[in-house]
Amino acid sequence: MYLTKEEERILDGEYGEIKQKCLELLVKLGEIYGAERLINISSAQISGVSYKTIGDIGLEFLEDFSKEKVAVYSTLNPAGMDLDNWKELKIKEDFAEKQLRIIEAFKRMGVEISCTCTPYLTGNIPSFSEHIAWAESSAVSFANSVLGARTNREGAQSALASAILGKTPYYGYHLDENRMADFIVKIDAEKNNNDETFFSAVGYIVGEIAKNRVPYFKDLYKYNPSKDDLKSLCAVMAASGGVALYHAENITPECKVKNVVDDKVEKIEIDKKEIKDAYDRLNTTDEEPELICIGCPHCSIREIKEIAEILKDKKLKADLWVCCSLHVKSISDRMGFTKIIEKANGKVVKDTCMVVSPIEDNYKIVATNSGKAAVYLPSFCKSEVIFKSIRELIK
Ligand code: F3S
Repeated sequence: MYLTKEEERILDGEYGEIKQKCLELLVKLGEIYGAERLINISSAQISGVSYKTIGDIGLEFLEDFSKEKVAVYSTLNPAGMDLDNWKELKIKEDFAEKQLRIIEAFKRMGVEISCTCTPYLTGNIPSFSEHIAWAESSAVSFANSVLGARTNREGAQSALASAILGKTPYYGYHLDENRMADFIVKIDAEKNNNDETFFSAVGYIVGEIAKNRVPYFKDLYKYNPSKDDLKSLCAVMAASGGVALYHAENITPECKVKNVVDDKVEKIEIDKKEIKDAYDRLNTTDEEPELICIGCPHCSIREIKEIAEILKDKKLKADLWVCCSLHVKSISDRMGFTKIIEKANGKVVKDTCMVVSPIEDNYKIVATNSGKAAVYLPSFCKSEVIFKSIRELIK
């Protein structure tokens, strides 16, 4: 792999041990994937933030690395709790103490403590064809597919190394040739009005088929997906498969500027029977939920507004978490949406989510409108899952 003189000096340890380790990691990655060189990035998005997922070893590693500063604008994935209101979520003291140490370590490095998987809703918004190094898989897909930026699916350590050096190896989705569609998806099914889970159910199936290939949706535009629907689609395909990029005719930007699909590639059709089967597989119980979780990926303000409208003058029997970023919550507070949700016995929870928070300490049956959460909850939180639209869940 070609290295500049300065990169060679970093590798020789002239800029300290941490930068040296970071470059060693990026060079190793580059060698594995056949990168010719490193390229500069404009932003990083770092995962491995929740104490639940990284434990004591991760905490020690981050405290060690916190002597170094990040070189580019860097934001954080969700933590294991709401950083301010963790007691309300019944988080244990010991967990909270360790989680706050993790956050302090990132703060010392100069990482923005945004704690969200939707950095593109809070100011970390790359432009078309900009090179970035992001780790959260749903955000990776949103950046690649919906914004047309370029990132591989980074791991927690490689995203951090890229943040510290401002560089990433030049391979994978940074290159034009790897951004072509591998197969075409046609959908032959009706979508019910006000049922946002349709996109998660379709994406669940396509992710399983795609694994880490690039799907091209031929007729998704007929269902008129909103940006929130596209964000759900990104999340579920990255969970049931390893999709980091998809194209959708007439919707995503890359297929508007160049040909990204060859008519000769494989074609698949998703029909209503397969979609019904996806709902059956994602629902693991028909019991009543103890906790309803909305906001995987984190809610936009439009989604919170919709939830507040449905909840107005109602009282909930189950607990409700509406997960979002600090940024979106502050708008929700200001608009009065948080008050409406709290009056109905719900909570607007920031900085964390149902998967990376230790909800298994308090809940066994969890309901969600998110395909990604429905995929992860049984393994990450040992939950029984109910997968339905917001309207059905609240009803
Ligand atoms: Fe975000 Fe947690 Fe879902 S990090 S994408 S809300 S699993």
